Amino acid sequence: MDRLTEDLLGLARIDRGTFEPRSIDELLQEVVSLVRYDFGQRKVEIRERYGEGLPLVAVKPDKLIQAFLNLLRNALEATPQGGRMEISAVARRTDDRMTGVSIRVTNTGSIIPEELREKIFEPFFTTKQEGTGLGLFFVQQIIQAHHGDIAVESDPSQGTTFEIILPAAEPSHAGATSDVG
Ligand SMILES: Nc1ncnc2c1ncn2[C@@H]1O[C@H](COP(=O)(O)OP(=O)(O)OP(=O)(O)O)[C@@H](O)[C@H]1O
Ligand SMILES: [Mg+2]
Repeated sequence: MDRLTEDLLGLARIDRGTFEPRSIDELLQEVVSLVRYDFGQRKVEIRERYGEGLPLVAVKPDKLIQAFLNLLRNALEATPQGGRMEISAVARRTDDRMTGVSIRVTNTGSIIPEELREKIFEPFFTTKQEGTGLGLFFVQQIIQAHHGDIAVESDPSQGTTFEIILPAAEPSHAGATSDVG
């Protein structure tokens, strides 16, 4: 099946499935192992950083995995040989409560010009020979279905970062984290 068909089928199924509380770092590690396999031959360093005691997030796992796969694929496709990609997740706090998780996907060596930073989320916008331009459109739909937000930053010194905010399944006291680990 080509990627376009795969994407369109995925979009048609966006409302299917049920939400379940999941540990976001475990889900991200799963996605990273998938792209490590796909991009095994590329000389790109992949780093992961996860905060301790992250709150659970209500997710449709298949959908969210698809969204992060698209983001990580984009990042790896954009990283020059010898560059670096980093995935991190930290808790977001409001007063003394953990209200969500902030996930950042960063890669070195690519810049999205300011005038394109909204366009990249439009369906069929692509700068790639073989791209469908549906990847980020899809990511945004999936994040919105999870009541989250997505934003992009890009500059020559830092590279490109997508930040995704997802609400905690149940806001908990920031002090009430596990003391294991
Ligand atoms: N990490 C990144 N660095 C630089 N540009 C990016 C990055 N991620 C996305 N883009 C830009 O956003 C465009 C749209 O991305 P999107 O994932 O929607 O489609 P695509 O990657 O071009 O196609 P497909 O996802 O079907 O392979 C890309 O063509 C590229 O120009
Ligand atoms: Mg893409």
